[in-house]
Amino acid sequence: MSFNTPIDRRNTNSTKWDLMEPLFGVSPDDGLAMWTADSDYPTAPCVIEAVKAAAEHGVFGYGFENADYLNAVSWWMQARHGWTIENDWILTTQGLGNGIALCLDVWSAPGDGAAIFTPVYHEFAIKINKAGREVTECPLKHDGDTYVLDLEDAQRRLSGKEKLLIWCSPQNPSGRIWTADELRAVSAFARKNGMLLVSDEIHQDLIYPGNTFVPAGVAAPTDTDNTVYLTAASKTFNIAGQRTGNMIIADPKLRADMRKRLASLDYKPSDLAVRMIAAAYSPDGANWADAQMAHLQTNRDIFDAGMKGIPGVSPMPLQSTYLAWVDFSGTGMSQEELARRIREDAKIAVSPGPTFGAGGENHMRFNLATQTSVVEEAVARMQSAFSDLQ
Ligand SMILES: Cc1ncc(COP(=O)(O)O)c(C=O)c1O
Repeated sequence: MSFNTPIDRRNTNSTKWDLMEPLFGVSPDDGLAMWTADSDYPTAPCVIEAVKAAAEHGVFGYGFENADYLNAVSWWMQARHGWTIENDWILTTQGLGNGIALCLDVWSAPGDGAAIFTPVYHEFAIKINKAGREVTECPLKHDGDTYVLDLEDAQRRLSGKEKLLIWCSPQNPSGRIWTADELRAVSAFARKNGMLLVSDEIHQDLIYPGNTFVPAGVAAPTDTDNTVYLTAASKTFNIAGQRTGNMIIADPKLRADMRKRLASLDYKPSDLAVRMIAAAYSPDGANWADAQMAHLQTNRDIFDAGMKGIPGVSPMPLQSTYLAWVDFSGTGMSQEELARRIREDAKIAVSPGPTFGAGGENHMRFNLATQTSVVEEAVARMQSAFSDLQ
């Protein structure tokens, strides 16, 4: 099966397809699901083989984070990202949304604040609010066709209550990959303001050719005492439904704090997820991940060219991830009118820009992790829905 083999995900307990109608008013019968961040093609064959072997064995008893799993995570970080970690630093979560919620729980108290650089993955603010903490939004600055940090502005926005800085690297949405200098600056900013840096690197493997991702742990290796690194195989290998990720914590005191909390919650990893990740983080998995990027590059380029063909619409050049961030402000239309056209005329379920916080106005996020024919269809529908602008 290739990345372009058509696959019907309807009625497979897929959030993206089976909830698109109740959530977005777009029917899965003739609509396209381009919102939540999972992929419309199967995971790597090596992962499928691991699941088949487990199913054939047929025993699904308790499991644990065994040496194969821990070695695979460490190997991947070293081989793919040049980041040396120790197996002991790896703590497993039920996904990185869960990881962020745990960090808020362990290292802040109700009434404290947490800072984020917006626009950013909408769940950061949702998790902070749900935990009874206050969100401090620090908007990224537009510089040409990309985002840059404005730490002076961010400094002015801090209330002094912030205990955590929840940071997205690479950035969702926008696909911006931060440089080592920017990462060091953010790390220093967190420390200077008494905030623990939580570096969410879930999109670390979805890097387009010609770009290089730098883990925070490589850029600022002396800041391990003030950083929790979040990584996962879930986006890379399309196994998000297995609800798994890692908190990589080098500092013994921070790690002990988190281990204590995980123990108090009786948290244990899913055995099947452990087996899948051990299989994914392997040389075979790496080859598949590279092939996936070639496929995504084709999709990105088709989508970019198609969006640029609509007057007033500009997609941000994607350095990473399959989440295209499109600025519609040049159309002069309201967010409501944009949403209506995309929902009712194009019949595409997308993620609305304002949910990503300040700076998301008049933007929409499109998920391109699908068959190329679907991206082509989406482009044709969008061009038709905005044809009056031509
Ligand atoms: C930056 C970022 N962090 C966390 C998550 C959620 O991860 P999980 O599904 O492991 O909870 C996502 C999902 O889109 C994401 O983009």
